[in-house]
Amino acid sequence: MNPLEPRRALVREKIQENRETYSLTLSLADHDHFSYRPGQFNMLGLPGMGEAPFSFSSLHLERGRFTHTIREAGSLTRSICQLAAGDILSIRGPYGNEWPLEKAKGRHLIIVGGGIGIAPLRPVIRHALGNGEEYGRLYFLLGARTEDDLLFREEFEKLTAGRDGTLLMTVDRGEKKELSHIREGLVTALLDEIDVDPEESITFTCGPELMMRFVARQLIQMGQDPYDIFVSMERRMKCGIAHCGHCQIGAMYVCKDGPIFPYGDIKRFADTML
Ligand SMILES: Cc1cc2nc3c(=O)[nH]c(=O)nc-3n(C[C@H](O)[C@H](O)[C@H](O)COP(=O)(O)OP(=O)(O)OC[C@H]3O[C@@H](n4cnc5c(N)ncnc54)[C@H](O)[C@@H]3O)c2cc1C
Ligand code: FES
Repeated sequence: MNPLEPRRALVREKIQENRETYSLTLSLADHDHFSYRPGQFNMLGLPGMGEAPFSFSSLHLERGRFTHTIREAGSLTRSICQLAAGDILSIRGPYGNEWPLEKAKGRHLIIVGGGIGIAPLRPVIRHALGNGEEYGRLYFLLGARTEDDLLFREEFEKLTAGRDGTLLMTVDRGEKKELSHIREGLVTALLDEIDVDPEESITFTCGPELMMRFVARQLIQMGQDPYDIFVSMERRMKCGIAHCGHCQIGAMYVCKDGPIFPYGDIKRFADTML
């Protein structure tokens, strides 16, 4: 099969997550074989509007269905977010690598997400909470502009209630500040509340590059190895399969070698903010 040839996907369900973000649950229209791993992405497209990469926000296929959570950023994302159940879009993938969950086994897991970057971490959070015995302590540190922008907030609150995972959230503007686990300020401040040895931990982070940079730098200062910090990188993409060069960072292709990289591998490249 030509890896650039799109397939057709059917919108099964759409949920509005906040003012500018929607989760679309899809299935392949032709019931083709499909499987994916958390961290990977699909190229989604609409006729005449092009394609763009979107990570999976669901953990695994359920009755052949999978979910992408999409923030309206420009014309393509706005049009995708306007689709309704029964509409068709094009899909290529899954592409890219996965979050290194195997490497995290037996260690404390620190998840740091910001804004729409919380969506690709949702499958990891769900996996870790469902398999708590495989990990040490679990920390979920999430940041957004406002309380309404905290993606999957209620879901994570329910999932962590009465379990070992520590959920801490922070917002830039905390007009309401209803709950004690929601702070005001930068997500990096939440790292001060971690009471495990960073040397025995592994971190997965996704969000604005500047956020990931400060998260990584603070963790390294706290003693974490740069190769135990995994960042999910965003670059403009065309082919998704290491043919066009659009997504290159140094000699690496974000679409094929990533999107998830050990911080130690990419911090030296001038074309990242890391
Ligand atoms: C591996 C990967 C996974 C992604 N997963 C998701 C996801 O799960 N949910 C989601 O909402 N988005 C995700 N994105 C981002 C998404 O692909 C872009 O928002 C989308 O391409 C915007 O397309 P557009 O035509 O609507 O906007 P455009 O008109 O292309 O852009 C709108 C604005 O966003 C900026 N922009 C667009 N693409 C990028 C980019 N790659 N990096 C930095 N700035 C950019 C533009 O400069 C412009 O300011 C992911 C990107 C990558 C690389
Ligand atoms: S998108 Fe073409 S090389 Fe990565």
